[in-house]
Amino acid sequence: MNKYYIASAPAKLILFGEHSVVYSKPAIAAAINLRAKSIVRVTNSHEIEIFSKNYNSKISFNLKNITEESLIKKIGNPTLLPVCYATLKTLNYLGEQKGLSIVIDSQIPPSAGLGSSAAVSVSTIKAISIALNYNLSNDIISSLAFNAEKIVHGTPSGIDNTVSTYGGLIYFKKPDTLRRLPLSVELPIVIGNTNISRQTKTLVARVRSLLEKYPSVINRILDAMAVLVELALSALQENRTEDIGSLMNINHGLLTSIGVSHKKLDLLVYSALSAGALGAKLTGAGGGGCMFALSNKTNLNAVADAIKSTGGTPYVTSLTSKGVALEDS
Ligand code: PMV
Repeated sequence: MNKYYIASAPAKLILFGEHSVVYSKPAIAAAINLRAKSIVRVTNSHEIEIFSKNYNSKISFNLKNITEESLIKKIGNPTLLPVCYATLKTLNYLGEQKGLSIVIDSQIPPSAGLGSSAAVSVSTIKAISIALNYNLSNDIISSLAFNAEKIVHGTPSGIDNTVSTYGGLIYFKKPDTLRRLPLSVELPIVIGNTNISRQTKTLVARVRSLLEKYPSVINRILDAMAVLVELALSALQENRTEDIGSLMNINHGLLTSIGVSHKKLDLLVYSALSAGALGAKLTGAGGGGCMFALSNKTNLNAVADAIKSTGGTPYVTSLTSKGVALEDS
């Protein structure tokens, strides 16, 4: 029996600047300690077998008769498509045709704006490369994951694969600013999932129509969001947690004012604040999906309980500088 190799990669959280980033304002994202794990073993066949523990679903394809173009027709299960592409792209890049058994075990809730598919791709690429005796650089891992995401998501920004590969903070601005910044401490946070599904493009369109109707007001709000990002960046780098919390609250208010919050997001935000969080805001597109709260270590469980009793699913975690990594096998 061949040896197993295990790699893990973190989820991403947009901390500040969602929506305004669409209008070429800056935004900040960070890696969080919810991780996707890929367990890879080389087999003596030409089969790629992928099993997702989270979905309890298995797919397989033979390397002898598959191309990137024919993969989409062969794989009925769209949730496993990104990892299939990541696998194929990695093998093509390495010029290898070895069979693999891949098990995915992820702590990241899917379709919640936390970059779950990029994290699964990044951890899988790393584990495959080590199982086959290569040591791919992070730049190559990130770009292979980006290419896999492009097939599935159309025009991804590149933030999810970058955060998941390198960890820490990312400052980004369209069209091509993507700056990696260190994070000196692990900041404790609680994510609250509303479990309400939403479509990013619907929310982005809502903001655009408001901007077209009331440009003089909405432009000022988007500008204010950009100022918040710059203030938050200094606060994060200097670890001024109370300031970070206050800036989160202001950002949530501005996001609410442009119509992208949701009654349940607001309930979770206010229940977290009542339980002692330093700040709370929605993250990502809004309209459902997730919020997060920054808390002192002592209040974390109270904040998580408050989110739970308000009907959300809490995830106690932290912002982290740990990117893709090998785990003990
Ligand atoms: O919820 P997500 O991960 O799809 O994030 C959306 C972020 C937006 O700023 C609303 C859109 C974008 O393309 O940046």
